[in-house]
Amino acid sequence: MKILVSGGAGYIGSHTCAELLLSGHEIVVVDNLSNSNESSLERVKEITGKDLIFIKEDITDEMKMEKIFLEHHFDAVIHFAGHKAVGESVSVPLNYYHNNISGSLTLFKLMKKYEIKKLVFSSSATVYGSHNKVPLKEDMPLSASNPYGRTKLFIEEMLRDIYSADPEWSIAILRYFNPVGAHPSGLLGENPKGIPNNLFPYVTQVAAGKRTCLSIFGSDYDTKDGTGIRDYIHVADLAGGHLKALEAVACSNGIEAFNLGTGQGYSVLEIVRMFEKVSGKKIPFQLSERRKGDAAVSYADCSKARILLQWNAEKSLEDMCRDSWNWQMNQTETYLDKELQII
Ligand code: NAD
Ligand code: UFG
Repeated sequence: MKILVSGGAGYIGSHTCAELLLSGHEIVVVDNLSNSNESSLERVKEITGKDLIFIKEDITDEMKMEKIFLEHHFDAVIHFAGHKAVGESVSVPLNYYHNNISGSLTLFKLMKKYEIKKLVFSSSATVYGSHNKVPLKEDMPLSASNPYGRTKLFIEEMLRDIYSADPEWSIAILRYFNPVGAHPSGLLGENPKGIPNNLFPYVTQVAAGKRTCLSIFGSDYDTKDGTGIRDYIHVADLAGGHLKALEAVACSNGIEAFNLGTGQGYSVLEIVRMFEKVSGKKIPFQLSERRKGDAAVSYADCSKARILLQWNAEKSLEDMCRDSWNWQMNQTETYLDKELQII
């Protein structure tokens, strides 16, 4: 199939592009590089030995996007493009509503106009809010507590309306849990700008000596060791989930949401210990206050994806930590964040 991959230069997008190429698909990546670097796509080509088309464009620009739709006849769209930082979304909500919602709206309007009705969309476990019991299941009530989460919720609603109006659409909504890890080659990975908000990039930078100490946000949760529990999933498994979702939307109409996680929760302290094991480094940490808005425990029920997509996460926590560490160690100048500050 010929696939439009929005946001394909980013962390999850680049891993998925590699899988798509290896499976014989043709891809056109549209990315404005607001949170990525074109070199990730060079590395995708290096890993796969295959070519792709890259167009540096903003998906909110309807005229430019229409030119792309006119030039290429796409069979399906995988839509990753969007801003994703929860804290930033609270400070600049309009940027998030514009980029994520207007960008998606533009893309969906053009898909309708050019009769491309097969879509895989990146949603997030954040749409479960904080009031559901674990394990989280796709049919549980949804809510959001920040603008980022609301953009995912609105886009999901938009897609359900699009499908109601035209049941020829075929839509897979993928709710990722905590994507981590890197390509086993060490060539692709996550490279957050500035001080990382998320646990894995922060821990790798502490292990590498770029940050002095990890703050563990909350040690008094009602969990096995008092620290927060999450369902971490290796980005390579996640990329595989997109292939399975694409196969599903290619051969049937409908709209379905799928959890992509492992179904297993690990605490912050378990992550620290596993990183110490794979890196052979001591990870200094301090126990700090809970972070506002954090749930104590979040993990998925993945049975729907297992049954309907025949997809299962296969990589272990050790794989996730080892590949994150390799990536950290293998980064070249291109990827190094020149503004990195030691704190
Ligand atoms: P990322 O920032 O690495 O990738 C997103 C890509 O989209 C970037 O390359 C960025 O430059 C591009 N982009 C952003 N706005 C754009 C626009 N208007 N036009 C064109 N390109 C644009 O993020 P990621 O971690 O790969 O996440 C991909 C998707 O998955 C996002 O929609 C994100 O919300 C969702 N998601 C991510 C996580 C996570 O923890 N990484 C969890 C749940 C959901
Ligand atoms: N944590 C720390 N110290 C840190 C960073 C995180 O202790 O420096 C803890 C958090 O309190 C939490 C766990 O590590 O218990 C994981 O935190 P992350 O920030 O890595 O991930 P979150 O679960 O908070 O959120 C992530 C994405 C969201 C997405 C959500 C569900 O950042 O965008 O997963 O997919 F919505």
